[in-house]
Amino acid sequence: EKGGFDHFMLKEIYEQPSVIKDTYRGRLLANKGIIKLGGLEDYIEKFTNADRIIIVACGTSWHAGLVAEYIFEDLARIPVEVEYASEFRYRNPIITEKDVVIAISQSGETADTLAAIKLAKEKGAFVYGICNVVGSTISRETHSGTYTHAGPEIGVASTKAFTTQITVLTMIALKLAKVKGTISHSDYMLHLRELETIPAKVEEALQSDAHIKVIAEEFKNARNFLYLGRGYNFPVALEGALKLKEISYIHAEGYPAAEMKHGPIALIDEEMPVVVIAVNSNHYEKVVSNIQEIKSRAGRIIAVVTEGDTLVKEMADYIMEVPHTPESLTPLVTTIPLQLLSYHIAVMLNRNVDQPRNLAKSVTVE
Ligand code: M6R
Repeated sequence: EKGGFDHFMLKEIYEQPSVIKDTYRGRLLANKGIIKLGGLEDYIEKFTNADRIIIVACGTSWHAGLVAEYIFEDLARIPVEVEYASEFRYRNPIITEKDVVIAISQSGETADTLAAIKLAKEKGAFVYGICNVVGSTISRETHSGTYTHAGPEIGVASTKAFTTQITVLTMIALKLAKVKGTISHSDYMLHLRELETIPAKVEEALQSDAHIKVIAEEFKNARNFLYLGRGYNFPVALEGALKLKEISYIHAEGYPAAEMKHGPIALIDEEMPVVVIAVNSNHYEKVVSNIQEIKSRAGRIIAVVTEGDTLVKEMADYIMEVPHTPESLTPLVTTIPLQLLSYHIAVMLNRNVDQPRNLAKSVTVE
């Protein structure tokens, strides 16, 4: 049932090209310029009239929410707040009928996310769910929603759920941007066509697997890792660090690259590998200077770069290449090498990759 793979996690990493396609199939018609999400069609005005969107989730799903914050604000110009469900529910939050709440959950059973939904409903908000498990409690408790079509995710470490959640969130953002007129027609068409090419690009990113294994071998005994990214790739840094922590039990922290100067830079020495997401984007030059700062403190750099990059390649100790894609879609490809890096390190350390200690696949108690 692992389809020839050693672990479910690896199988699920490799399924991403096909499940991302499953997630947009019949919903994204790039040639016709159409995005059609069944659960959204009747509620578009709820979103376009909303004062703000509040996203509630936990763990990896919360990271997908953070990516969505960038996409929604950037493309659809709707203010977004992303909340840990556990904090939101106990904060006596200010919610009104003018708010739209999006709950993201792979399992659809996470206790804190469910409680946050109930609270938001009591206060009159419209609640939209993005779940993977069909018929799950959260999918039933929300007013409407969209399923990711990732198929069963068995590995405790979430992989394909994350990229399919981002796929759904991107489609919603593009649809709203088009309806609101906050995106030009050509930019909209470009995004649709580019989204359609993501499965092939993920496939290409997976081809670095053997090279990533070499990097894993080199760094598997490190005690700490730092992950840095900016903009759309800041949440990817958080997700990369979480993946490493949960399956390899190595301490890792994700940070927005610019925050490094405000504290974490003190940690950097030759013992501290720093994974930097340095793909071509608006932030490229800034990330390059962050890399220089790390190098001058003898930090070792593993950089995720756009194919063909030469500048970062010269500075970094190792690079992991991903195909070029518009910045708003980069998380869908930059995530892949980070999943593989964690996976290989965990295997080399003989960890229980699919069922890490102390963790449950769905956290149904708070
Ligand atoms: O089923 P959910 O998406 O609601 O689960 C949320 C988190 O418990 C989950 O993402 C967790 O952080 C994963 N183990 C991360 O890999």
